[in-house]
Amino acid sequence: MTPSLSSPENILELRGVKKFFPVRRGLLQRHVAVVRAVDGVDLDIRRGETLSLVGESGSGKSTLGRLVASLDTASAGEILFADGNGAAVDIARLPASGVKALRRKIQLIFQDPYASLNPRMTTEQIIAEPLRVNGIASGKALAELVRMQIEQVGLRADQLDNYPHEFSGGQRQRIGIARALAINPQLVIADEPVSALDTSVQAQVLNLLTDLSREKALTLLFISHDLSVVRHISDRIAVMYLGRIVEVSETSRLFAAPKHPYSEALISVTPSPDPRLRRKRIVLEGEIPNPISPPSGCAFHPRCRYATDLCKAERPPLAGVGEGRKVACHHAEALDLQGLKGDVA
Ligand SMILES: Nc1ncnc2c1ncn2[C@@H]1O[C@H](COP(=O)(O)OP(=O)(O)OP(=O)(O)O)[C@@H](O)[C@H]1O
Ligand SMILES: [Mg+2]
Repeated sequence: MTPSLSSPENILELRGVKKFFPVRRGLLQRHVAVVRAVDGVDLDIRRGETLSLVGESGSGKSTLGRLVASLDTASAGEILFADGNGAAVDIARLPASGVKALRRKIQLIFQDPYASLNPRMTTEQIIAEPLRVNGIASGKALAELVRMQIEQVGLRADQLDNYPHEFSGGQRQRIGIARALAINPQLVIADEPVSALDTSVQAQVLNLLTDLSREKALTLLFISHDLSVVRHISDRIAVMYLGRIVEVSETSRLFAAPKHPYSEALISVTPSPDPRLRRKRIVLEGEIPNPISPPSGCAFHPRCRYATDLCKAERPPLAGVGEGRKVACHHAEALDLQGLKGDVA
């Protein structure tokens, strides 16, 4: 049976997606446990939007990004991608022959451009490679296309002969963006693309990425551990905790009135644009639990100020709460959580 998406608005639909890594010990490398890195993710991404995936270190964001980019295979679930001509492919069950075609449509931009750019290739070779490998252009047309790409990211054609080490961090990430966008992908996954950069250049690179995405009508899945970084670039935000999505919402609604206690805590520590506006910082006690043995019920309950016995016993489903929002909390309707009401964006 050919899989199909539930809405023509969506470019990607994740259904019950899981990724478990085996933990091996000892000389015989016996399989002793599993890391539940992604533990049942349901998420829709709409065509043309910028959706940010946020959560603390270890919540499974990069693992999820790698599954979508087919750099890794899901242990369970469906990852349905709209192929452009009305059909959908399930990335979780893609035969090896389908992977190459998919990589043209879904590109990944990494955190550390120094590690992801080949140090022995010139900038020209780096940007030209995906165009050449995919048979998009050759000869003069290829050279012209590469020149356009580098100028589009704010660098100069005379820098094409330079090697990655001859650029600054921000410039290297621009090259990474040029390379990823060169083959006109439909979906770009940017995994912490500015975390390694100085704060002063973070905004420039972010703006470049979002401007180009809009210009090219790309869908952008942006991964970050920092809510304040994604606030001004995201149409919607998905908050992830220990391998699951706990809240998905349009950005301004999430900031104004979070519905999950974990989102509330993350928002409470984002810097306010107006220092006169005082708000209570909610300090999360302890660290994110070990995904080898996640807590019972709601995985967030040991750190939640509002947890009840129900939260310890039963895992709350991710359920619709109106305004296109979804929340996985037993008490979402009853709680009145602190957002950034009154803050000016
Ligand atoms: N190849 C692997 N083998 C075993 N465990 C892994 C592997 N990759 C990731 N994990 C584990 O899966 C969990 C999720 O990791 P992941 O890198 O997806 O988190 P993240 O949200 O991207 O974190 P960060 O913000 O630090 O990048 C972690 O506990 C991690 O140790
Ligand atoms: Mg990561």
